[in-house]
Amino acid sequence: MVFTLNWKGYSFRKTIEARRRRYEMATLSDRVRALNISPIRRVASLLTQTNRKTDIISFGGGAPSLAPPVEVSAEITRRIKENAQVSCAYTGTRGFMELRQLIAEDWRKREGASYEPKEEVIVTDGATEGIFNAFMAIFDENDEVIVTDPTYLGYLEAAQLTGARLARLPVKVEESYQPSLELLKSLITKRTKAAVFLSPDNPTGRIVRPDFIKGLVDLAVDHDFWIVNDSTDTGAAIGICIWAK
Ligand SMILES: Cc1ncc(COP(=O)(O)O)c(C=O)c1O
Repeated sequence: MVFTLNWKGYSFRKTIEARRRRYEMATLSDRVRALNISPIRRVASLLTQTNRKTDIISFGGGAPSLAPPVEVSAEITRRIKENAQVSCAYTGTRGFMELRQLIAEDWRKREGASYEPKEEVIVTDGATEGIFNAFMAIFDENDEVIVTDPTYLGYLEAAQLTGARLARLPVKVEESYQPSLELLKSLITKRTKAAVFLSPDNPTGRIVRPDFIKGLVDLAVDHDFWIVNDSTDTGAAIGICIWAK
């Protein structure tokens, strides 16, 4: 019960009380409550508890340890100083056109694939958002997405949030973590909606053999599923690739 001297005060307090009760009872969605804490975050929090001792090597999140190139920071600062109205303006939901053109150009040069910046390139705030958006656009409840196992852990939660299930394609260290086309075929069902392609892979570092890529594309065409290409670490593939015999 709330006793007050005037109506204004009463209604104000009543609102606070109601809100407090609502928060006590309110729960998050089943979808969100079913998620597990990412093992990467668990390692990160353990590391924080150790007071950042220098002799501990973290195998958790791969935060870049290099500062951005000086030219990039200088250019960002210059643009903000000289034309804040334009450089800090809203971009539109797909991102700056100039940036999307540069991304398309980069893909053309590096991958030989041509994408139309206006219709086919969207800028997201990091890869996680890109993966989530792609999954949301592709999956319905109980659809299946094929991923290698092990691979980057973030696909599980993104798939779970969309209602899709992971179909795991096991890869072995003795085979340099190369996925097998035969095993991939055996995982394809009527519910297969996509396969994630990640090369180089995180955490194994595996670079997928060209014959697997060709087989994967053929299967995707034959069975009408998407290939989600996560190219987060593409730029990290330096030097020669060694494939298992
Ligand atoms: C393969 C892969 N995909 C996605 C991500 C997430 O990237 P971001 O931090 O840009 O969201 C990472 C981060 O380590 C990654 O390794």
